[in-house]
Amino acid sequence: MCGIIGYVGPRPAIEVILPGLRRLEYRGYDSAGVAVLEGGELQYDRAPGRLSVLEGLLAGRPREGTVGVGHTRWATHGEPTEANAHPHLDCTGRFALVHNGIIENHAVLKDRLVREGHRFGSYTDTEVIVHLVESSYRGDLEAALRAALDEVEGSFAVAVLCRDEPDRIVAARRNSPLIVGLGDGAQYLASDVPAILPYTRKVLYLEEEEMATLTREGVALRRLDGTAVHRTPTTVDWDMEAAEKGGYPHFMLKEIHEQPEAVRATIGGKTDRSRLRRLFGGLGIEAETLQHVERVVVVACGTAWHAGLVGKCAIEDLAGIPTQCEIASEFRYGAPVLGRDTLVVAVTQSGETADTLAGVRRAREAGAPVLAVCNVLGSSVPRASEGVFYTHAGPEIGVASTKAYTTQLVAMTLLATYLGLQRGTLDRQRAGRVLRAVGGLPGALREALAADAMVQECARRFQDSRTFFYIGRRYNLPTAFEGALKIKEIAYLHAEGYGAGEMKHGPIALVDPGLTAVAVFSEGATHDKMRSNVEEIRARGGRVVAVAPADDAEAARVADFVLPVPRVDEVVSPVVNVVPLQLLAYHMAVLGGRDVDRPRNLAKSVTVE
Ligand code: G6P
Repeated sequence: MCGIIGYVGPRPAIEVILPGLRRLEYRGYDSAGVAVLEGGELQYDRAPGRLSVLEGLLAGRPREGTVGVGHTRWATHGEPTEANAHPHLDCTGRFALVHNGIIENHAVLKDRLVREGHRFGSYTDTEVIVHLVESSYRGDLEAALRAALDEVEGSFAVAVLCRDEPDRIVAARRNSPLIVGLGDGAQYLASDVPAILPYTRKVLYLEEEEMATLTREGVALRRLDGTAVHRTPTTVDWDMEAAEKGGYPHFMLKEIHEQPEAVRATIGGKTDRSRLRRLFGGLGIEAETLQHVERVVVVACGTAWHAGLVGKCAIEDLAGIPTQCEIASEFRYGAPVLGRDTLVVAVTQSGETADTLAGVRRAREAGAPVLAVCNVLGSSVPRASEGVFYTHAGPEIGVASTKAYTTQLVAMTLLATYLGLQRGTLDRQRAGRVLRAVGGLPGALREALAADAMVQECARRFQDSRTFFYIGRRYNLPTAFEGALKIKEIAYLHAEGYGAGEMKHGPIALVDPGLTAVAVFSEGATHDKMRSNVEEIRARGGRVVAVAPADDAEAARVADFVLPVPRVDEVVSPVVNVVPLQLLAYHMAVLGGRDVDRPRNLAKSVTVE
């Protein structure tokens, strides 16, 4: 998974490419490179490491060319070295190519190309494409790229420059995102919108199997089979401010604090029954199909999978529909039993996660209706699904997901309520209570955020723990999973999310003063059980941090430290309970001097397997 940007226009291309790459760094950041056409020659520069290394390199080598491409890489094949960084060149130095995706048959193609006399300079899967372009080139770059892509299997968003056609960039996509920005006498290409937002708001989303040729005069779209495509550009109404830090030291902290507004945007207005019907009635899946659903299967990865687990509780509780929540990388290779009466819900922030997308395709092939719950408009998962509920959380830049998660939780709760009402399994009073609780979430989130100083103090007190066990039950077992994931991701501390009732079946053997248990208390039947689980840990010398309402005297009695949250209906409690856990991970990461927004070895959007 990588970020691509391209520019053709009157300015030195580097002036657009470098800031664009900075805004694409969330897609990968282990090496970067650029290529520009200058004085009839291809000039290229690549550097392993963060983008700043490449910027340093270019500071001493001004590049004036006005047509160029850039790339920020997240390694899949080949270490993050200079040689493996993009762009890749052919043997003659006539073509430069950048790629996002995986070429699955690269080994076979490389063997053949080497036999034909091609010399390879990298260990990447990408390099085969540029050699294939070289082999097919007969004076028409578009035709050569089309011929090359005809031979490759796998996923790609590619952009290629040719010394002999110095006025253009040719690009194409299959299973990896790519957009074109339309300017006045200048055109832009990128993996995602923020990269080009300072220059234009007129965007063309490339569909599967499409290619684009960009010149200063305009953009021609075609299918990979050569047929012309006509599409009206979309006007993007994102505010650039929204993609920047807005005064916070890190995107993650900004995004944590944006949660009240993000959740308000997901709810999108009044939370009453008639609005709920209108909302779900317009999502693309027939109300009748939803009414006759016998089973729900949620498919997702990472944090989105945790949202799915909460969704399972809510759908079973409120709608009485048996629900399972599958990790997409397992689901796609399993033997799922699906049919028209199984609703598959694909939860994904980016809409580009390769495993989730493959799961969606699998479900569609089996005839199941698929509803995407997604944040990024026009991304691949919603386009591959029958219906889509957009969470409208706004761009999420921090690699560790925060506002995308809480908005997914809200979406799942609304879906569960809607299904319950449609099927008559949820009585109106209960539905009313749930909807009021959802409507109260922006305020409850603000209250939870107000405890930030206490969370910071907690981080200081417990940062020396050897290991953390996040424990929860029912609705808040996924909250425990998510809290543990956050602290692993950005603070690099060992943590496990565990069912509180399961501790006695093994992990309790690990309890000593070096272990901190973070216990997420739920309202209802499991509250007292949790208290006993916590006492068992304390009795063995473990330390305990509780997430509980400020007036929960029982939790305060058994814990060493309480992270207070507002008291809300159990159904929506995962939304507020995760807030102190996001902040705890954040402060631990800052105390540990970690790179909060770009944790090592991780990427925001995993568009490869
Ligand atoms: C990556 C991100 C996670 C995210 C997961 C699924 O691992 O680092 O934060 O939860 O992908 O991403 P998606 O875009 O499908 O929600």
